[in-house]
Amino acid sequence: MSRRTIVLDCDPGQDDAVAILLALASPEELEVRAVTTVAGNVPLVRTVDNALRLVELAGARVPVHAGAARPLLRPLVTAEHVHGESGIDGAELPPARRRPEPAHAALAIARHLLDPTAVRPTLVATGPLTNVALALALHPELARRLEGIVLMGGAVGPGNVTPAAEFNMYVDPHAARMVFEAGVPVTMFPLDVTHRVLVTEARLARIRAVGTRAARAVAGMLAFYRTRGRTGGAADGPLHDPCTVAWLLRSELFRGRSCRVEVECESALGLGRTYVDLHGVTGRPANAEVMLEADADGFFDLLCARLARLD
Ligand code: BDR
Ligand code: CA
Repeated sequence: MSRRTIVLDCDPGQDDAVAILLALASPEELEVRAVTTVAGNVPLVRTVDNALRLVELAGARVPVHAGAARPLLRPLVTAEHVHGESGIDGAELPPARRRPEPAHAALAIARHLLDPTAVRPTLVATGPLTNVALALALHPELARRLEGIVLMGGAVGPGNVTPAAEFNMYVDPHAARMVFEAGVPVTMFPLDVTHRVLVTEARLARIRAVGTRAARAVAGMLAFYRTRGRTGGAADGPLHDPCTVAWLLRSELFRGRSCRVEVECESALGLGRTYVDLHGVTGRPANAEVMLEADADGFFDLLCARLARLD
């Protein structure tokens, strides 16, 4: 498999933070052209500041761009009760030395991934899909050029912010609908698979034992996040967002199925729900590869090995 050029659009967020570090620790497989941020877990000023700090933690010189400060049509909903006031509570990172780039995230996504030198251009999205939808609207040719969009969001079963909806889909359902209907191959990591990748005490201890500055920051963040992000009385919390990057590195860690996915934008109660047509009952063509199974031990082996490469 050849290397890919990616842009990572995110709303860090402790789990987004792990996705950023995993990507930046994997230069053989991934050329990260930019990290772009959107409002989601915390407001935009914080997600962009967090992304800058994380890129510096990884010792990388990747540009960071700020994007949409609110969803397309709805007011912003944030999740400080899960992620803390900063969004990456537990990390203890110094203030960023660099500033975000002047260009809007949506324009940066298009510029980097339409660039003729981009190889297998792939967009990774781990927050609400506002920037991604704007990029596709501003540059429809992006839909033809992208090899795929790999995103964390949605659920086959119950949601985590309402009984029906997962957070990223709920925050900007209209953007999500635009993305699923854009004609780009989507690889979707719904809650059903990310809830198989649990941060247990033993896994947390393994990450801490890696001993690098990046691993200590990840351990700090996950110690904070693991009990707040859990649902349904589970003992351990899921690690959602880095599943996307892990799939780009080692696709055999996950198993999925091609399905039609539609996003609920009308019903008040069901807003942001993803209808995943697992059994093909609609007869509509598949628009996503929906991941359903994960090798969690393999995932944490990969994460620890890659965190050991950073300072
Ligand atoms: C998603 O929502 C956010 O809280 C996480 O960062 C993840 O992207 C999980 O529902
Ligand atoms: Ca996220």
